[in-house]
Amino acid sequence: MNPETVNPTDHAEGGDSAEDRVRIFDTTLRDGEQAPGFSMDRRAKLCMAQALETLGVDVLEAGFPQASPDDFAAVDEIARTLRNTTVCALARCQNGDIDTAARALERAHHARIHLFLSTSPLHREHKLGMSKSQVLETAVASIERARKYSADVEFSAEDALRTEPDFLVEVFSAAIAAGATTLNAPDTVGYTTPAEMVELFTYLRKHVRDAHKAVFSAHCHDDLGMAVANSLAAVSAGARQVECTINGIGERAGNAALEEIVMALKVRAPHFGLRTNIDTRKLYPTSRLLTQVTGQAVPRNKAVVGENAFAHESGIHQHGMLKHRGTYEIMRPQDVGIAETTLVLGKHSGRHALRQRLETLGHTFDEAAMEGIFKRFKTLADRKRDIRDEDLEALALGQDPDAIG
Ligand code: KIV
Ligand code: ZN
Repeated sequence: MNPETVNPTDHAEGGDSAEDRVRIFDTTLRDGEQAPGFSMDRRAKLCMAQALETLGVDVLEAGFPQASPDDFAAVDEIARTLRNTTVCALARCQNGDIDTAARALERAHHARIHLFLSTSPLHREHKLGMSKSQVLETAVASIERARKYSADVEFSAEDALRTEPDFLVEVFSAAIAAGATTLNAPDTVGYTTPAEMVELFTYLRKHVRDAHKAVFSAHCHDDLGMAVANSLAAVSAGARQVECTINGIGERAGNAALEEIVMALKVRAPHFGLRTNIDTRKLYPTSRLLTQVTGQAVPRNKAVVGENAFAHESGIHQHGMLKHRGTYEIMRPQDVGIAETTLVLGKHSGRHALRQRLETLGHTFDEAAMEGIFKRFKTLADRKRDIRDEDLEALALGQDPDAIG
């Protein structure tokens, strides 16, 4: 790691909100992995890191090296392996943490040290036992120390959304002066709303000294189900980095879901006027890889990557889809790496979808025969949740639905 080498994806000039690119900072392997049930060993982390680089994330938070020898080794290995993506290591504002993070990143092609310190009154009093001036001094001293190792230093004001805005301005202004190039305002406890997010980011960008020298970043948790909406609100108010995880995994209710943020920016591009470096066709494979390495499935109805995201069962929707896919889909499944839309046959399905599927299976019927098959199909669908092609073959051959297993 060279302190003079500024990562081209994150140099300070990129802080201007007029810039049309949003950096994707992936923290699946750090904040995501911290959640119960999602821990990953070194091999799994390396495999995910390679997939995330191929996906096109700008910054990959590989871990918290001071947390354990295995976390250190994982960060070191990922740092040595990735070529294009900036590899980031988390550190508290403590000398030991900073030195350990720097050592873990020593062989990185592009390295970032990510420092965090709580700024909210609740955390200052009950967690840190520090005054405002102690927080300020500690943040500055830590940023200066980290800058000796890397030109790319991010500072996070933990619990920023419950911090007095004028104190946050003071801390961020001092952080820029000390050399931080990314300023992150996390909604650590998932408490805020989109309107408050817009208000805070607008205020920060207006009042922080030399704000144009840093990239403003959002890091949202999903305790009230608003992490993605809050991240997008921050972006609309000038944030140019969002911190997120694949499948939205993370502490408690999780972090903002990467795939949802990226697709919202893509599908609503005329609204946001912003782009990312993500190859969206890799979203679904990356999501699946994570479910394999953690053993944790995503809910069927999960936005973008859930099994139902591009599946239609109701007859009215299927009829619409057969006429024009835009009737009930706002994105193409292929754009997120899913092969095709599925018209699932079940008790809500109609004649059109049944006829189409039977024709695909090589069975064509006149209206009268189709009517009989449709009646028997409905009887079968009432007692069977998933109608498979074998069931349809049996129906087409005139077998009794009650005899079909
Ligand atoms: O949620 C949070 O505040 C964090 C920080 C370490 C950035 O994860
Ligand atoms: Zn977090």
